[in-house]
Amino acid sequence: MCRQTEKGRAVSEPTFAVPPKTPANLRVATKQAPRAAAAEQAADPVSELGPTGRPFPALPEPGPRRGPVGEAAVGQRSPATVIALCNQKGGVGKTTTVINLGASLAEFGRKVLLVDFDPQASLTVGLGINPNEVDSTIYHLMMERDVPLDDVVIDTGIENLDLIPSNIDFAGAEMQLINEVAREQVLARALEPAVSRYDVILIDCQPSLGLLTVNALAAADGVIVPLECEYFALRGVALLKGTIDKVQDRLNPKLQIVGLLGTMYDGRTVHSREVLQTLVSGWGDAVFHTVIRRTVKFSEATVAGEPLIAYATSSAGADAYRQLAKEVLARCPGA
Ligand SMILES: Nc1ncnc2c1ncn2[C@@H]1O[C@H](COP(=O)(O)OP(=O)(O)OP(=O)(O)O)[C@@H](O)[C@H]1O
Ligand SMILES: [Mg+2]
Repeated sequence: MCRQTEKGRAVSEPTFAVPPKTPANLRVATKQAPRAAAAEQAADPVSELGPTGRPFPALPEPGPRRGPVGEAAVGQRSPATVIALCNQKGGVGKTTTVINLGASLAEFGRKVLLVDFDPQASLTVGLGINPNEVDSTIYHLMMERDVPLDDVVIDTGIENLDLIPSNIDFAGAEMQLINEVAREQVLARALEPAVSRYDVILIDCQPSLGLLTVNALAAADGVIVPLECEYFALRGVALLKGTIDKVQDRLNPKLQIVGLLGTMYDGRTVHSREVLQTLVSGWGDAVFHTVIRRTVKFSEATVAGEPLIAYATSSAGADAYRQLAKEVLARCPGA
Protein backbone atom coordinates (compact mmCIF):
# COMPACT_ATOMS: atom_id res chain seq x y z
CA MET A 1 0.00 0.00 0.00
CA CYS A 2 2.65 2.34 1.15
CA ARG A 3 4.97 1.30 -1.67
CA GLN A 4 2.27 1.84 -4.28
CA THR A 5 1.66 5.35 -3.00
CA GLU A 6 5.33 6.14 -3.33
CA LYS A 7 5.47 4.71 -6.80
CA GLY A 8 2.55 6.93 -7.71
CA ARG A 9 4.43 9.94 -6.42
CA ALA A 10 7.59 8.90 -8.21
CA VAL A 11 5.86 8.72 -11.57
CA SER A 12 4.95 12.38 -11.36
CA GLU A 13 8.54 13.42 -10.75
CA PRO A 14 10.43 14.20 -13.96
CA THR A 15 13.99 13.99 -12.64
CA PHE A 16 14.09 10.24 -12.00
CA ALA A 17 16.49 8.40 -14.24
CA VAL A 18 15.00 4.96 -13.70
CA PRO A 19 11.29 4.57 -14.45
CA PRO A 20 9.53 2.98 -11.48
CA LYS A 21 8.27 -0.57 -11.78
CA THR A 22 4.52 -0.31 -11.59
CA PRO A 23 2.49 -2.99 -9.86
CA ALA A 24 0.97 -3.71 -13.29
CA ASN A 25 4.22 -4.66 -15.01
CA LEU A 26 5.30 -6.73 -12.02
CA ARG A 27 2.00 -8.62 -12.33
CA VAL A 28 2.56 -9.25 -16.03
CA ALA A 29 6.03 -10.62 -15.34
CA THR A 30 4.61 -12.98 -12.73
CA LYS A 31 2.07 -14.35 -15.20
CA GLN A 32 4.63 -14.97 -17.93
CA ALA A 33 7.39 -16.68 -15.97
CA PRO A 34 6.65 -17.22 -12.30
CA ARG A 35 10.15 -18.28 -11.22
CA ALA A 36 11.99 -15.60 -13.13
CA ALA A 37 9.52 -13.00 -11.94
CA ALA A 38 9.95 -14.08 -8.34
CA ALA A 39 13.71 -13.76 -8.67
CA GLU A 40 13.31 -10.37 -10.29
CA GLN A 41 11.02 -9.15 -7.53
CA ALA A 42 13.51 -10.25 -4.94
CA ALA A 43 16.41 -8.47 -6.58
CA ASP A 44 14.93 -5.80 -8.75
CA PRO A 45 12.94 -3.45 -6.51
CA VAL A 46 15.81 -3.36 -4.07
CA SER A 47 18.37 -2.48 -6.71
CA GLU A 48 16.23 0.02 -8.61
CA LEU A 49 14.44 1.62 -5.72
CA GLY A 50 16.51 3.48 -3.16
CA PRO A 51 16.17 2.76 0.56
CA THR A 52 13.40 5.36 0.81
CA GLY A 53 11.27 3.21 -1.52
CA ARG A 54 11.54 5.67 -4.42
CA PRO A 55 13.67 5.27 -7.54
CA PHE A 56 16.99 6.97 -7.08
CA PRO A 57 17.30 10.11 -9.23
CA ALA A 58 20.27 10.76 -11.52
CA LEU A 59 22.25 13.37 -9.61
CA PRO A 60 24.42 15.65 -11.73
CA GLU A 61 28.16 15.75 -11.02
CA PRO A 62 28.78 19.05 -9.21
CA GLY A 63 30.24 21.72 -11.46
CA PRO A 64 33.23 23.87 -10.56
CA ARG A 65 32.89 26.51 -7.90
CA ARG A 66 31.55 29.82 -8.91
CA GLY A 67 34.38 32.29 -8.58
CA PRO A 68 37.33 33.56 -6.57
CA VAL A 69 37.38 32.97 -2.81
CA GLY A 70 38.84 34.74 0.20
CA GLU A 71 39.53 38.48 0.19
CA ALA A 72 39.71 38.54 -3.61
CA ALA A 73 36.15 37.30 -3.78
CA VAL A 74 34.51 40.04 -1.75
CA GLY A 75 31.87 41.71 -3.89
CA GLN A 76 32.64 39.47 -6.89
CA ARG A 77 30.61 36.37 -6.24
CA SER A 78 27.15 35.37 -5.14
CA PRO A 79 26.62 35.03 -1.41
CA ALA A 80 27.07 31.74 0.42
CA THR A 81 24.15 29.38 0.89
CA VAL A 82 23.67 29.11 4.65
CA ILE A 83 22.22 25.82 5.92
CA ALA A 84 21.34 25.04 9.54
CA LEU A 85 21.41 21.42 10.70
CA CYS A 86 18.61 21.22 13.24
CA ASN A 87 16.81 18.71 15.37
CA GLN A 88 15.94 19.26 19.01
CA LYS A 89 16.46 15.54 19.59
CA GLY A 90 20.00 14.71 20.66
CA GLY A 91 22.34 12.21 19.04
CA VAL A 92 20.62 12.02 15.66
CA GLY A 93 23.68 12.77 13.51
CA LYS A 94 23.62 16.57 13.20
CA THR A 95 27.31 17.05 13.94
CA THR A 96 28.35 13.98 11.94
CA THR A 97 26.39 15.35 8.99
CA VAL A 98 27.90 18.84 9.29
CA ILE A 99 31.42 17.37 9.30
CA ASN A 100 30.95 14.92 6.44
CA LEU A 101 28.59 16.94 4.26
CA GLY A 102 30.97 19.88 4.71
CA ALA A 103 34.00 17.77 3.80
CA SER A 104 32.18 16.36 0.75
CA LEU A 105 31.19 19.82 -0.48
CA ALA A 106 34.79 20.93 0.05
CA GLU A 107 35.94 17.92 -1.97
CA PHE A 108 33.61 19.09 -4.76
CA GLY A 109 35.47 22.39 -4.76
CA ARG A 110 33.11 24.46 -2.63
CA LYS A 111 34.64 26.82 -0.10
CA VAL A 112 32.90 25.72 3.09
CA LEU A 113 32.62 27.26 6.55
CA LEU A 114 31.39 25.09 9.43
CA VAL A 115 29.93 26.89 12.44
CA ASP A 116 29.97 25.07 15.77
CA PHE A 117 26.81 26.46 17.34
CA ASP A 118 26.71 24.12 20.31
CA PRO A 119 28.53 24.60 23.65
CA GLN A 120 29.13 20.81 23.70
CA ALA A 121 31.65 21.64 20.92
CA SER A 122 31.33 18.20 19.29
CA LEU A 123 31.99 19.69 15.87
CA THR A 124 35.19 21.32 17.08
CA VAL A 125 36.32 18.06 18.74
CA GLY A 126 35.27 16.01 15.72
CA LEU A 127 37.68 18.02 13.59
CA GLY A 128 40.55 17.26 15.94
CA ILE A 129 40.63 20.64 17.70
CA ASN A 130 40.74 20.95 21.48
CA PRO A 131 37.96 23.41 22.45
CA ASN A 132 39.84 24.39 25.61
CA GLU A 133 42.75 25.63 23.54
CA VAL A 134 40.85 27.99 21.25
CA ASP A 135 40.86 31.64 22.29
CA SER A 136 38.10 32.99 20.08
CA THR A 137 34.88 31.18 19.35
CA ILE A 138 31.44 31.81 17.89
CA TYR A 139 30.63 33.32 21.29
CA HIS A 140 33.14 36.14 20.74
CA LEU A 141 32.03 36.74 17.16
CA MET A 142 28.41 37.10 18.31
CA MET A 143 28.69 38.80 21.65
CA GLU A 144 31.64 41.18 21.27
CA ARG A 145 31.71 44.08 18.90
CA ASP A 146 34.52 44.47 16.37
CA VAL A 147 35.88 40.91 16.53
CA PRO A 148 37.10 40.29 12.96
CA LEU A 149 36.01 37.07 11.26
CA ASP A 150 39.64 36.11 10.69
CA ASP A 151 40.22 36.04 14.46
CA VAL A 152 37.71 33.23 14.96
CA VAL A 153 38.06 31.15 11.79
CA ILE A 154 40.30 28.07 12.04
CA ASP A 155 41.76 26.24 9.04
CA THR A 156 40.79 22.58 9.59
CA GLY A 157 43.74 21.31 7.56
CA ILE A 158 41.32 20.04 4.93
CA GLU A 159 41.36 22.01 1.72
CA ASN A 160 38.39 24.41 1.38
CA LEU A 161 37.09 23.59 4.86
CA ASP A 162 37.17 26.18 7.67
CA LEU A 163 35.63 26.16 11.14
CA ILE A 164 34.32 28.68 13.62
CA PRO A 165 34.79 26.72 16.84
CA SER A 166 32.81 26.67 20.05
CA ASN A 167 33.55 25.80 23.64
CA ILE A 168 31.87 25.89 27.01
CA ASP A 169 31.99 29.73 27.05
CA PHE A 170 29.12 29.58 24.59
CA ALA A 171 26.87 27.98 27.23
CA GLY A 172 26.09 31.40 28.69
CA ALA A 173 25.23 32.98 25.35
CA GLU A 174 21.54 32.09 25.40
CA MET A 175 20.98 33.93 28.70
CA GLN A 176 23.02 36.90 27.53
CA LEU A 177 21.14 37.12 24.26
CA ILE A 178 17.84 37.65 26.06
CA ASN A 179 18.84 41.25 26.78
CA GLU A 180 20.16 41.98 23.28
CA VAL A 181 18.36 44.20 20.79
CA ALA A 182 17.11 42.05 17.87
CA ARG A 183 18.24 39.02 19.84
CA GLU A 184 17.10 36.51 17.21
CA GLN A 185 19.33 38.03 14.53
CA VAL A 186 22.66 38.23 16.30
CA LEU A 187 24.15 35.25 14.44
CA ALA A 188 22.93 36.50 11.06
CA ARG A 189 24.74 39.80 11.68
CA ALA A 190 27.87 38.06 12.96
CA LEU A 191 28.06 35.88 9.82
CA GLU A 192 27.61 38.77 7.37
CA PRO A 193 31.34 39.06 6.56
CA ALA A 194 31.53 35.29 5.93
CA VAL A 195 28.68 35.24 3.45
CA SER A 196 30.73 36.94 0.76
CA ARG A 197 33.77 34.68 1.26
CA TYR A 198 32.31 31.18 1.22
CA ASP A 199 30.09 29.09 -1.04
CA VAL A 200 28.35 27.18 1.73
CA ILE A 201 28.05 27.79 5.47
CA LEU A 202 26.79 24.89 7.63
CA ILE A 203 25.58 25.63 11.16
CA ASP A 204 25.67 22.76 13.66
CA CYS A 205 22.82 23.46 16.10
CA GLN A 206 22.54 22.21 19.64
CA PRO A 207 19.69 19.80 20.47
CA SER A 208 17.08 22.39 21.50
CA LEU A 209 14.54 24.75 19.99
CA GLY A 210 15.67 27.70 22.11
CA LEU A 211 16.93 31.13 21.20
CA LEU A 212 20.23 29.86 19.78
CA THR A 213 18.45 27.57 17.33
CA VAL A 214 16.11 30.41 16.39
CA ASN A 215 19.24 32.49 15.68
CA ALA A 216 20.55 29.72 13.41
CA LEU A 217 17.21 29.54 11.56
CA ALA A 218 17.09 33.31 11.22
CA ALA A 219 20.58 33.30 9.67
CA ALA A 220 19.91 30.41 7.27
CA ASP A 221 18.59 30.03 3.74
CA GLY A 222 17.74 26.40 4.40
CA VAL A 223 17.41 23.70 7.04
CA ILE A 224 18.49 20.08 6.93
CA VAL A 225 16.83 17.86 9.54
CA PRO A 226 18.77 14.68 10.32
CA LEU A 227 16.58 11.98 11.86
CA GLU A 228 17.65 8.69 13.32
CA CYS A 229 15.66 5.90 11.67
CA GLU A 230 13.80 4.83 14.80
CA TYR A 231 10.25 5.42 15.98
CA PHE A 232 10.80 8.19 18.54
CA ALA A 233 12.60 10.25 15.89
CA LEU A 234 9.30 10.92 14.14
CA ARG A 235 7.61 12.42 17.18
CA GLY A 236 9.53 15.69 17.32
CA VAL A 237 9.45 16.59 13.64
CA ALA A 238 6.09 18.37 13.75
CA LEU A 239 7.30 20.55 16.63
CA LEU A 240 10.46 21.45 14.72
CA LYS A 241 8.40 22.23 11.61
CA GLY A 242 6.27 24.57 13.75
CA THR A 243 9.38 26.48 14.84
CA ILE A 244 10.69 26.64 11.26
CA ASP A 245 7.30 28.00 10.08
CA LYS A 246 7.27 30.67 12.79
CA VAL A 247 10.79 31.81 11.96
CA GLN A 248 9.87 31.89 8.27
CA ASP A 249 6.74 33.97 9.01
CA ARG A 250 8.20 36.40 11.47
CA LEU A 251 11.95 36.68 10.89
CA ASN A 252 13.27 35.06 7.75
CA PRO A 253 10.90 34.64 4.77
CA LYS A 254 13.62 33.02 2.62
CA LEU A 255 14.00 30.04 4.98
CA GLN A 256 13.28 26.68 3.28
CA ILE A 257 13.51 23.05 4.33
CA VAL A 258 16.30 21.63 2.14
CA GLY A 259 15.52 18.11 3.26
CA LEU A 260 15.01 15.48 5.93
CA LEU A 261 17.86 13.01 6.18
CA GLY A 262 17.46 9.46 7.50
CA THR A 263 20.53 8.56 9.57
CA MET A 264 21.74 5.44 11.38
CA TYR A 265 19.64 3.37 9.00
CA ASP A 266 19.84 -0.39 9.25
CA GLY A 267 18.20 -1.93 6.19
CA ARG A 268 18.28 -5.39 7.82
CA THR A 269 15.65 -4.38 10.39
CA VAL A 270 11.99 -4.06 9.54
CA HIS A 271 11.79 -1.23 12.06
CA SER A 272 14.34 0.96 10.26
CA ARG A 273 12.62 0.34 6.93
CA GLU A 274 9.17 1.12 8.38
CA VAL A 275 10.34 4.36 9.98
CA LEU A 276 11.78 5.50 6.66
CA GLN A 277 8.54 4.55 4.85
CA THR A 278 6.49 6.51 7.41
CA LEU A 279 8.77 9.50 6.95
CA VAL A 280 8.36 9.39 3.18
CA SER A 281 4.56 8.94 3.44
CA GLY A 282 4.35 12.06 5.59
CA TRP A 283 7.01 14.26 4.03
CA GLY A 284 7.23 13.01 0.45
CA ASP A 285 10.04 14.44 -1.61
CA ALA A 286 11.32 16.57 1.26
CA VAL A 287 13.04 13.35 2.39
CA PHE A 288 16.48 12.99 0.81
CA HIS A 289 16.95 9.94 -1.38
CA THR A 290 20.29 9.47 0.32
CA VAL A 291 20.16 7.60 3.60
CA ILE A 292 23.09 7.31 6.00
CA ARG A 293 23.53 3.75 7.23
CA ARG A 294 24.57 2.85 10.74
CA THR A 295 28.27 2.05 10.96
CA VAL A 296 30.84 2.23 13.71
CA LYS A 297 33.21 3.95 11.28
CA PHE A 298 31.64 7.32 12.13
CA SER A 299 32.60 6.96 15.80
CA GLU A 300 36.10 5.81 14.82
CA ALA A 301 36.52 8.88 12.61
CA THR A 302 35.39 11.13 15.48
CA VAL A 303 38.04 9.60 17.75
CA ALA A 304 40.60 10.23 15.02
CA GLY A 305 39.39 13.86 14.80
CA GLU A 306 38.73 13.60 11.07
CA PRO A 307 35.73 13.52 8.72
CA LEU A 308 34.97 9.99 7.54
CA ILE A 309 35.53 11.41 4.04
CA ALA A 310 39.22 11.74 4.99
CA TYR A 311 39.59 8.90 7.54
CA ALA A 312 38.10 6.15 5.37
CA THR A 313 37.76 7.91 2.06
CA SER A 314 36.37 5.00 0.07
CA SER A 315 34.04 3.65 2.77
CA ALA A 316 30.29 3.32 2.14
CA GLY A 317 29.63 6.03 4.75
CA ALA A 318 31.94 8.49 2.99
CA ASP A 319 30.25 7.74 -0.34
CA ALA A 320 26.82 8.27 1.20
CA TYR A 321 27.82 11.77 2.30
CA ARG A 322 29.27 12.53 -1.15
CA GLN A 323 25.92 11.50 -2.58
CA LEU A 324 24.12 13.69 -0.05
CA ALA A 325 26.34 16.60 -1.10
CA LYS A 326 25.22 16.09 -4.70
CA GLU A 327 21.59 16.07 -3.60
CA VAL A 328 22.08 19.23 -1.55
CA LEU A 329 23.76 20.99 -4.49
CA ALA A 330 20.91 19.90 -6.76
CA ARG A 331 18.37 21.28 -4.27
CA CYS A 332 20.29 24.53 -3.63
CA PRO A 333 21.25 25.70 -7.11
CA GLY A 334 23.03 28.80 -5.76
CA ALA A 335 25.54 26.76 -3.71
N1 LIG B 1 25.40 6.77 10.63
C1 LIG B 1 25.89 6.55 11.85
N2 LIG B 1 26.15 5.29 12.26
C2 LIG B 1 26.63 5.05 13.50
N3 LIG B 1 26.93 5.98 14.40
C3 LIG B 1 26.70 7.26 14.05
C4 LIG B 1 26.17 7.61 12.78
N4 LIG B 1 26.05 8.96 12.72
C5 LIG B 1 26.48 9.41 13.92
N5 LIG B 1 26.86 8.41 14.71
C6 LIG B 1 27.38 8.48 16.08
O1 LIG B 1 26.28 8.81 16.93
C7 LIG B 1 26.68 9.73 17.92
C8 LIG B 1 25.84 11.00 17.84
O2 LIG B 1 26.09 11.60 16.58
P1 LIG B 1 26.18 13.18 16.43
O3 LIG B 1 27.07 13.74 17.49
O4 LIG B 1 26.48 13.48 15.04
O5 LIG B 1 24.67 13.57 16.78
P2 LIG B 1 24.10 15.01 17.12
O6 LIG B 1 22.70 15.04 16.60
O7 LIG B 1 24.99 16.07 16.67
O8 LIG B 1 24.10 14.96 18.71
P3 LIG B 1 23.81 16.20 19.70
O9 LIG B 1 22.35 16.45 19.61
O10 LIG B 1 24.23 15.71 21.04
O11 LIG B 1 24.62 17.36 19.21
C9 LIG B 1 28.16 9.96 17.71
O12 LIG B 1 28.88 9.11 18.54
C10 LIG B 1 28.38 9.58 16.26
O13 LIG B 1 29.70 9.11 16.01
MG1 LIG C 1 25.88 17.68 17.73
